Amino acid sequence: MTDEVRRAAEILRAGGLVAFPTETVYGLGADASNQAAVARLYSVKRRPADHPVILHVADAQAAFTWAHKPSPLALRLAECFWPGPLTLILERSLRAKYYVTGGQDTVGLRVPSHPIAQALLDEFATANEFGSAIAAPSANRFGGVSPTTAAHVRGDFGDEVDLVLDGGPSEVGIESTIVDVSAGKPVLLRPGRISKAQLREAVGVDILEKNTNSPRHSGGLERHYAPRTPARLVPTHALDKEIAKLGDKVAVLAFSRPDERVDYWLRMPREPDAYAQKLYAALRELDGAGCELILVEAPPDAPEWAAVRDRLERACSH
Ligand code: TXA
Ligand code: MG
Repeated sequence: MTDEVRRAAEILRAGGLVAFPTETVYGLGADASNQAAVARLYSVKRRPADHPVILHVADAQAAFTWAHKPSPLALRLAECFWPGPLTLILERSLRAKYYVTGGQDTVGLRVPSHPIAQALLDEFATANEFGSAIAAPSANRFGGVSPTTAAHVRGDFGDEVDLVLDGGPSEVGIESTIVDVSAGKPVLLRPGRISKAQLREAVGVDILEKNTNSPRHSGGLERHYAPRTPARLVPTHALDKEIAKLGDKVAVLAFSRPDERVDYWLRMPREPDAYAQKLYAALRELDGAGCELILVEAPPDAPEWAAVRDRLERACSH
């Protein structure tokens, strides 16, 4: 792998695009200081230019070169959760140009823990300037289902990406928790494996919920993480009735045992972290079944399911 990581770092330095594994989902990376490379990243992903991208950095010290005066609260969160599945939104330093922040004065920063992501960031920064960052959205087309394997990335982009580093299936399976710490009180913009309760415990203050009218983060775009096949969330008690109505035209994602009237049925774990780990591969598989509708059995309305519910609600929104 080390030769491949070296080659990946060279491609990034030359302005190319490299997909790499992280503990959450696969990212599609470009040199965050190279405007042309970032422009190509946006174009391949078909992402609108005003939509900011997360900068991935090797460690907290490197990360904060992209931020202006991080608050004690931001430093505390970094200390507790980096490297790991947490993205912090901070006021940008002049190093973070508008073409990575979507024209905003804040920047998204994350130190991933996956060993291949770490190796790539180390290699890239060593041969570059101190704290060099890789700008990386999830390696899927804009609005689609995030990738949790190298095969997902290849399926979405083919040779539009210069290299895909294969680190096996992602361990967390859904995107990082995003906390905005750019202005006073911390605000949760996207739920993830790191829960609100864990964040609160780390900093000793309440974490506010995002204002759903703010358009500039993933929460602002209702339909997201969505398969091409229409999908619908149904409560457990209504599942049978829906299946009776639609029969073999549906594919089902559920906790319960398969029903013989349905050809495509994936059974999901009753534990939220295990469910999250499998979620995107399952949605991609059911999307490929050629059915008219994907029925998703709604998970419990409990705090430990917040991140999974968030992704399912977006995948099922029209
Ligand atoms: O787990 C993850 O975070 C993955 C892996 C690859 O690291 N990345 C990821 O990137 O999910 P992406 O681009 O698919 O989603 C990042 C979200 C976007 O919805 C973006 O709007 C938000 O982070 N974001 C980035 N910078 C922001 C900023 N300055 N203010 C508000 N939201 C921001
Ligand atoms: Mg994404």
